[in-house]
Amino acid sequence: MSRARLRGKAPLPSDVCTDVRAIPADFKPFGALPMTVQLFEPLSLRSLRLPNRVVIAPMCQYSAIDGRAQAWHTAHLGQLALSGAGLLILEATAVEPRGRITPGCLGLYDDACESALEGVLKVIRSVAPIPLAIQLSHAGRKASSGRPWEGGALIPADQGGWKPIAPSSVPLKESEAAPDALSREDLDRLRDQFVAAASRADRLGFDAVEVHAAHGYLLHQFLSPVANQRADEFGGSLDNRMRFPLEVLAAVRSAWPAHKALGVRLSATDWIDTSSWQLTEAIEFARRCETLGVDWIDVSSAGISPQQKIVLGPGYQVPFAKAIREAVRIPVMTVGLITEPKQAEQILAEGNADMIGLARAMLYDPRWVWHAAAALGAQVPAPRQYWRSQPREHPTLFGDIRTAQR
Ligand SMILES: Cc1cc2nc3c(=O)[nH]c(=O)nc-3n(C[C@H](O)[C@H](O)[C@H](O)COP(=O)(O)O)c2cc1C
Repeated sequence: MSRARLRGKAPLPSDVCTDVRAIPADFKPFGALPMTVQLFEPLSLRSLRLPNRVVIAPMCQYSAIDGRAQAWHTAHLGQLALSGAGLLILEATAVEPRGRITPGCLGLYDDACESALEGVLKVIRSVAPIPLAIQLSHAGRKASSGRPWEGGALIPADQGGWKPIAPSSVPLKESEAAPDALSREDLDRLRDQFVAAASRADRLGFDAVEVHAAHGYLLHQFLSPVANQRADEFGGSLDNRMRFPLEVLAAVRSAWPAHKALGVRLSATDWIDTSSWQLTEAIEFARRCETLGVDWIDVSSAGISPQQKIVLGPGYQVPFAKAIREAVRIPVMTVGLITEPKQAEQILAEGNADMIGLARAMLYDPRWVWHAAAALGAQVPAPRQYWRSQPREHPTLFGDIRTAQR
């Protein structure tokens, strides 16, 4: 006899759905939980409600062609969309072709890019209700790189690469050709390209946008004196170095619908002792972002120079998130070597962050969120096609589900 009959409940007409979102929108948790599990508490970002605090951090796939998403993106994002995470942030997506990190990076700078992504999103939206964000980015002097599995080196223009642009004509590595320094007119055009990409993201139905100002890419290059050696109003003092990133964020905020959330990812430090971007400056930048209407701060670190000396360890960026969270009122996300459910729960319970970003752990275990809910005694909605996988020892993990067969 089926489990549903044993429990005296009528079986559902079918346990296979073919045409609607696989996770029912009317998901009802079943039974009282012993205590609140912070990781599975909802969070609101403007009109967007995240069902829990697990965020799939943006991850480049290096698998686009001319900026256009491919079948790989449908498969990759499709599996992550079924993960039960609270938010899925798509990879760094370039606002102009020169802003791609590698020739395989995703773009959102023309109609072909938009329509390729539309096809991917159509599939994802038809099977999963997960909130979706896209990370808008420009690689600056780190553009025109080989894919990681090709070695990642700068690709010269005569070998399929292109000439990178940057705040100053300072290469990432001394041995590399210097990028072109941007003029004021270039900056206006770039700001407009961020806005145009945000408008495309809105048309595509994204719930949120995250602007990439971390990891040594263009906006971080403006923030950090390591890459920014300009003598005009965009270089020198902290106010001047923040000017262009804040201009971009303000322009995106006013073009992006008022009910939709806007986040920013920043590097909290360059991990370089002298003449570099430090936590105190990152805190001030986060405050200024909040003032102009940014809804969450995604706290990462590093990426500006090979001179960096990162001290790695589990949750090594959590102290940065904590420091920034103490200075702002908007939610803060922490990320970096968070791999265990109890570790994630503790970070939230201790008030260090509001959201937990996971990258590699989600690739390694796309069911991380289910396993975390089971380990912490929480509940998570699962696609009804997978309900029969609910472990016997966690009989209410997926909520009040019923399946039956004849
Ligand atoms: C394959 C891969 C691709 C990544 N691509 C991006 C990206 O597009 N944008 C970004 O801000 N960070 C990117 N990152 C960094 C992650 O978002 C994350 O901050 C970092 O991996 C640390 O988190 P983890 O320890 O959970 O992996 C990438 C990381 C990986 C492993």
